[in-house]
Amino acid sequence: MTESLLIQGGRIIDPSQGIDYKGSLLVTGGKVAWLGEGSPAVSDYAVLQVDGLIVCPGFVDLHCHLRQPGYEEKETIATGTAAAARGGFTTVCCMPNTEPPLDNEAMLNYVRTVAAREGVIRVFPIGCVTLGRKGEELVDMNELEMAGAVAYSDDGSPLSSPDIMRRALEYSRDFNRPIIDHCENQFLTQGGQINEGVVSLELNLQGIPASAEELIIKRDIDLARETGGHLHVAHVSTEGSVDLIRQAKEEGVPVTAEVTPHHLTLTEEAALGYNTNAKVNPPLRTKQDIQALLRGLNDGVIDIVATDHAPHTEVDKNCDFKQAAFGISGFETALGSLLSLVFKSDLSLNNLIEALTVGPARVLGYEKLGTLEEGAPADICIFDLHREWVVKPEKFVSRGKNTPLAGKTLKGMVMATIYQGMPVYMDEAIKIEALKGK
Ligand code: DOR
Repeated sequence: MTESLLIQGGRIIDPSQGIDYKGSLLVTGGKVAWLGEGSPAVSDYAVLQVDGLIVCPGFVDLHCHLRQPGYEEKETIATGTAAAARGGFTTVCCMPNTEPPLDNEAMLNYVRTVAAREGVIRVFPIGCVTLGRKGEELVDMNELEMAGAVAYSDDGSPLSSPDIMRRALEYSRDFNRPIIDHCENQFLTQGGQINEGVVSLELNLQGIPASAEELIIKRDIDLARETGGHLHVAHVSTEGSVDLIRQAKEEGVPVTAEVTPHHLTLTEEAALGYNTNAKVNPPLRTKQDIQALLRGLNDGVIDIVATDHAPHTEVDKNCDFKQAAFGISGFETALGSLLSLVFKSDLSLNNLIEALTVGPARVLGYEKLGTLEEGAPADICIFDLHREWVVKPEKFVSRGKNTPLAGKTLKGMVMATIYQGMPVYMDEAIKIEALKGK
């Protein structure tokens, strides 16, 4: 193969540059070399003909669980990154709730080494905020910073101590890194299984109230205001949370926020019939919450979409509801489920792509990611907006088959994912064609 590849004839959408036109994109040496509506000045390239398909920056996921080390039966860096590539992602940030947790240099080096050797896309590790994720003692952020942490979080658990949260915001401010808090007041969630509401009553399961999330968001906003540190709120799920973040942003508090595909598209009713695949933390909420989350995403109060891909084994989920693990395997259904919002006109295609590409890159402070600007890494997602497919978890690349979407038909399918100029996923329907000009 020549060094260059021309992705020709697709609809290029790149919100980072305000681009939406039918055109072509030339990749050379793993970077975007040219894009436009005509033809490039050079003629020595292979061709990927993509008429009728959308060409956009590869997706950037700020929040996922790759489970390695310690929980390789749920996922590995190899299977998780392959699943992410299948879903159109070219960069994923992995949470540190592994075993052992990512709370020191050696653990971060381990993840980066395995990712370089076995991963198919870019993996950015997120470091713990506290040693062992115990919530008691801050990690050595200087050490983790040098080892490549892109953000800090004890995700899976909240930062319960306001003192720890406050000091974490102070330290991370110096490194210009976000503290990602899993906002949950555990006094209010103990024993909780699903959203507190009609479904929890009907199923006789203990409910998780909206206040459990909102109390901690409120506290964190106060601390971000006081310290000037960057608070990033993980998986926002309630209307009240959106209101709090809106007010904080209006005041100029340094806060960003994410929402997951499942919180945008599913309600508490998905748990009816004791469906453990709809058990997730925070829980799926109500239609009214979804409306507020969508408003937030549309007007920029919520900055991005992040998957919270949380793979679990059959044993973790095929059990009594109260014993089941929290989490949804999300990489491979993210685009298809989010596009349902575009088809209902709840979200524009441009805003959706922005929330999956340049949005997360901005939260991380990386200018060259999530964009098809000339000179940026050629990280590209090519998808068919109209192709329908049935979700078959047994066909997932991820080890985690835990999805509440099994058997559902989704419209919109990833056809190819290109990472640094190399195809890391390609549907059999499209092929790189013979060299031109040689
Ligand atoms: O549902 C969840 N699963 N929420 C979390 O915060 C953690 C995650 C996991 O690690 O399984």
